[in-house]
Amino acid sequence: MTGKPIILVTRKLPGLVEDRLQRDYQAILNPNDQLYSADELVSLCAKADAILPCHTEKLTADVIARLPENIKAICNFSVGYDHVDIDAAKAKGVIVTNTPDVLSDATAEIAILLMLGAARRASEGERMVRAGEWKDWSPTFMVGSQVSGKRFGVIGMGRVGQVAARRARGFDMDVHYYNRTRLDESLECGATYHENVEDLLENCDVLSIHCPATNETTGLLNKERLSLLPKGAIVVNSGRGGVVDDDALIEGLKSGHIFAAGLDVFNGEPDNIHPEYVNLNNVFLLPHLGSATTETRIAMGFRALDNLDAIFAGEEPKDRVA
Ligand code: DGY
Repeated sequence: MTGKPIILVTRKLPGLVEDRLQRDYQAILNPNDQLYSADELVSLCAKADAILPCHTEKLTADVIARLPENIKAICNFSVGYDHVDIDAAKAKGVIVTNTPDVLSDATAEIAILLMLGAARRASEGERMVRAGEWKDWSPTFMVGSQVSGKRFGVIGMGRVGQVAARRARGFDMDVHYYNRTRLDESLECGATYHENVEDLLENCDVLSIHCPATNETTGLLNKERLSLLPKGAIVVNSGRGGVVDDDALIEGLKSGHIFAAGLDVFNGEPDNIHPEYVNLNNVFLLPHLGSATTETRIAMGFRALDNLDAIFAGEEPKDRVA
């Protein structure tokens, strides 16, 4: 390779990240933050050595097969990499990396916001005030559910799940979790481990989803499993929409079995989410804001660049997932 490697950056990144990119690479930037179609993406790759995409780019097996041979790496600006067909990347010899750790605090903050927003009917209340419909206060007005001292159940006790559990302990919540493998006792911090999801569900008042979207976790929270939650439970999802069966959750929310849900991620996001969510008062909805803080977005960009730097220095990138 002669000259600086050429990096195709699919979305507009924070200024500091683009500055570093342009210092060290020839960057093909996207100043208008236009969402590329698969065809556009493939053709923009013609001269690039690597891609720096977000979860908004679907790097399916078909797209990866069409990538030119000059593409050596896909260095994601995301911790999740369910938008990349990992087997196809491996088969083609394309390195794939993600950005773990740096977004755990921000995403856990959103999980707690979702929990409180759902429990205390924040969305409903806010809409009422904005619409000028708030006319009275009474002891029975807009009463929600208190989370302090209750059970906080975590599916997926990885980095984000562990931080969310720590924050929940700030509300004196008793942490329960399910994870494929049990954590070391020093990381459990007193949390109760459940060997299967079903057992966890029976033991939580708030369920917070933090597992990645995989073939195994798609539709994990289905009708049968939701029915195992105690009546009045709250469901929080700041992981991936695919883990939840929307029809089943909506049925639970309508029947009152589920008191409320706080959702930051959705099947079909952004513009094809289940239409019933927007009509339900007992859901608190956010548009995939988990990592959306200035500090975190810069840290994610730098982490993606650290991975690129390693790859083009001929070293093993820290966050290689394929
Ligand atoms: C992630 O990093 O996976 C977030 O969901 C944003 O893409």
